[in-house]
Amino acid sequence: MDIQELFSSIIESMPSALITVDGDLRIKHINTNALRISNVNAAAVKNAPVDDAFPMLENYRDDIKVALSQRTTVILDRIEYVNEDKKHYYKITCYPLDALEDVTVIQIDDITGREMLEQRVLQTEKMHSLDGLAAGIAHEVNNPLSAIINDIQNIKRRLEPDRPANQGVAMDLELDLEKLNRYLQRREISFFLDSIEEGAFRASNIVSNMLKFSKPSGYSREPCDINQLLEQSINFAIKDFELHEDASINSTTIELNLAKDLPRVRALPVELQQVFVNLLQNAQQAIAARKAIEPESYVGKISLETRVEGDDVVVIVGDNGIGMSDEVARKAFDPYFTTRLHSGGTGLGLSTVFRIINTLLGGQVEIRSAENYGTQFIITLHQ
Ligand SMILES: Nc1ncnc2c1ncn2[C@@H]1O[C@H](COP(=O)(O)OP(=O)(O)O)[C@@H](O)[C@H]1O
Ligand SMILES: [Mg+2]
Repeated sequence: MDIQELFSSIIESMPSALITVDGDLRIKHINTNALRISNVNAAAVKNAPVDDAFPMLENYRDDIKVALSQRTTVILDRIEYVNEDKKHYYKITCYPLDALEDVTVIQIDDITGREMLEQRVLQTEKMHSLDGLAAGIAHEVNNPLSAIINDIQNIKRRLEPDRPANQGVAMDLELDLEKLNRYLQRREISFFLDSIEEGAFRASNIVSNMLKFSKPSGYSREPCDINQLLEQSINFAIKDFELHEDASINSTTIELNLAKDLPRVRALPVELQQVFVNLLQNAQQAIAARKAIEPESYVGKISLETRVEGDDVVVIVGDNGIGMSDEVARKAFDPYFTTRLHSGGTGLGLSTVFRIINTLLGGQVEIRSAENYGTQFIITLHQ
């Protein structure tokens, strides 16, 4: 093999996509990998504008031209491109050729896998550092909260007209307890006391949830029938909605698509149920939100699917609700991120889901969502 052939063969076999373009960014040569990811066929590729054949380069024509005009290497480290609903990440390197004045080489590397992994690691780290912080804060907040709850209960008891101890002191002071109580009612002081108590209980609940989920160990796995856990979770979620008198659950259809031969997965049944209930609650809330802005004809639908993929069990919880913007989807797993603050959201639902699936079970959870169209949570559990 002569040196020419050797070099051609190296270029052909390179895992990167390689393209050469002229000063007008028209394609001169491409290697096999470039052809594989291009939009045009081999016959039409020569002289085609490079961003017609490679649409991920569309917004970067000026950057590519800089490589030639400045005779320098231009690296676009991480460009995002959405193709058929799937997000890809590419690293683009452009450099001029020493020997040929009018030619730029463009190298395209698909870094989607690495990007995804990095995002997952980042999210896990964020959760870990928050865990410690959350546990610390929870402990600190717990004490004053208990004091508030205790004191409120004492105040309420000491205002009750039929307690002998209260009656004794009132008599000493010639105070009419009945009248005092009527005053408290009419000035709504009793109502304020109830509302302070309720608020403190709510805060205390949040805190104890935080503490519960920052405990690292004490979990033991057992073989779980995922289909059965899903069905139990649906029943639970429906009861919960009825309890909160949310009538929209009655008109929501629930579609089940459960694999019959699903193998059992070694997991944590209680925690998995918590995951499913959280996702079902979010789905129903997303449906209610879309219902509020759409005409009567809109029908909410939740769909649950299980299937086997290689050695993994995949669970998909989908809804045709309000959906998420890209920005919301990016932050959705963050602890305390919520868009439903006004309607009682805590932003702890999905961070708990992430914690259980990724950290405790070593699986993955991903979001696919489109605004005003719907959302899917895809959970992958390794056996
Ligand atoms: N199925 C869904 N459809 C649309 N948006 C969702 C869905 N699930 C979660 N979200 C978004 O993610 C945010 C965080 O969810 P979560 O952690 O459960 O907190 P919360 O439900 O308390 O707001 C929600 O406020 C909402 O904006
Ligand atoms: Mg939620």
